[in-house]
Amino acid sequence: MKWVVKNSKPEKADAQALVVFVNKEGQFATPFAALDGASKGVFAAWQEKKYFAAEAGEAAVFHDVPGVEAECVVVCTVDDDYRKLTQAGQQIVKLARQHEWKKVALTLPEAIVPYSDALAILARALGKADYVFDRFKSGEKKAPVKTAWQWLVGDKKAAEETLRWVDAWVAGTYLTRELGDLPPNVCNPAYLGDRAKQLAEEQDAITAKVLKRKDIEALGMGALLGVAQGSHADPRFIIMEYKPKKAVNARPVVLVGKGVTFDTGGISLKPADGMDLMKYDMGGAAAVFGTLAGLCAAQAAVHVVALIPAVENMPGGNATRPGDILTSMSGKTIEIINTDAEGRLILCDALTYAERYEPLAVIDMATLTGACVIALGSVRAGLMGNDEALVDGLFQAGEAARDLVWKMPLDSGYREMMKSSFADFVNASSVREAGTLTAGAFLGAFAEKYPWAHLDIAGVAWGRGAEKGGTGRPVGLLLEYFRRLVA
Ligand code: BES
Ligand code: MN
Ligand code: ZN
Repeated sequence: MKWVVKNSKPEKADAQALVVFVNKEGQFATPFAALDGASKGVFAAWQEKKYFAAEAGEAAVFHDVPGVEAECVVVCTVDDDYRKLTQAGQQIVKLARQHEWKKVALTLPEAIVPYSDALAILARALGKADYVFDRFKSGEKKAPVKTAWQWLVGDKKAAEETLRWVDAWVAGTYLTRELGDLPPNVCNPAYLGDRAKQLAEEQDAITAKVLKRKDIEALGMGALLGVAQGSHADPRFIIMEYKPKKAVNARPVVLVGKGVTFDTGGISLKPADGMDLMKYDMGGAAAVFGTLAGLCAAQAAVHVVALIPAVENMPGGNATRPGDILTSMSGKTIEIINTDAEGRLILCDALTYAERYEPLAVIDMATLTGACVIALGSVRAGLMGNDEALVDGLFQAGEAARDLVWKMPLDSGYREMMKSSFADFVNASSVREAGTLTAGAFLGAFAEKYPWAHLDIAGVAWGRGAEKGGTGRPVGLLLEYFRRLVA
């Protein structure tokens, strides 16, 4: 994104469009007197005639406004719902594309809305619009937005700091969305491994190590290997490390991302309807990639290790069967009840691997359960963990970044439901109830040696309908978490 921060007067802005905000009552966020004075009462006349867009999130364009140097004034209506500001941002980008505006000056609505992060919300909405995924379409490609955005704000330094993290968010979510949107015949475990190496090549602060089947066998990751064995695609265990010259934490934060590049369910085959969406079953891995890219962009002073177990879950003559018993890296044995509960199997070995870092905290993210989609939909992701401070920190970061999560319980009763008659654990409870919590409790049994939190992102990793595609969540939450850790 191209943006600059200025504190020039709106009426003097050197741009093709000047964006100002009103609420539904027609009350201006920018100094109304200055604009109205410069235009010799034109704004007051419009206000009187209710010319401004009546619906929050919409915009009206006025050309050749006397006294205003910009060629036109975009008046956006907002209300107390921050999502309307995102919508307004989308309108602004649409107009900028349509009119091919090269320079747009924006004021902020903070004086008329009940939240204080309007700059971040609006900047993210503008930044988001540049993402296109049309490489698999023949014909003409959509050109990116070429507009340079000028922010007209009082506190230049604070705004620049906010925008630095918005830039990180843009870089991070773009990578996460891209990896998610890639088809599963391209984005397989080996491909993820290659992208890790590529990221390490591009970024000085990142190193990558990609373990192949032999190395994974040597580590004894029997649960991960069990999932992988039905597929012709070889598994990978990806280790990335983000280590800047200066870090606030002596012990690393470890991020773990579920990297099932396609989930057919295995022998416990999923129904055909909507199965294409299971290409997003590496959404956790994609978010870990994106977070690392974001940390690079922000040059954040934190030490972070990323672990990505990458597999494809396929049926096949060599696939695991319900009834099979696998031995995980921890030594704990797992009876397979349902081969579609594969995420927890690859994650449990990654969680055991994480122990060697003596981590400050481990945060795993996974498109883990359909039950979480039923419980929370696409608004909030599920959050569980064994450490109140960590869980609370993530919750608060989610609120601040508007990348929402909800705390869910992990009582020992849920772990009880994961006991097996023949092994230490089952991979799926015999009942469907509390499916998100029994999955979380299973992971918790492998994460007892450090503070740990789990994000079930099954409902939030990809969008539906007109928003179809990867969302880039929960990169916003994680970057905000790290921003706070550094601050
Ligand atoms: N990847 C799925 C979870 C999922 C389902 C994500 C729908 C997004 C939308 C996961 O591997 C899975 O299949 N989970 C099972 C677990 C069950 C067999 C215990 C589920 O949720 O049905
Ligand atoms: Mn599954
Ligand atoms: Zn899955």
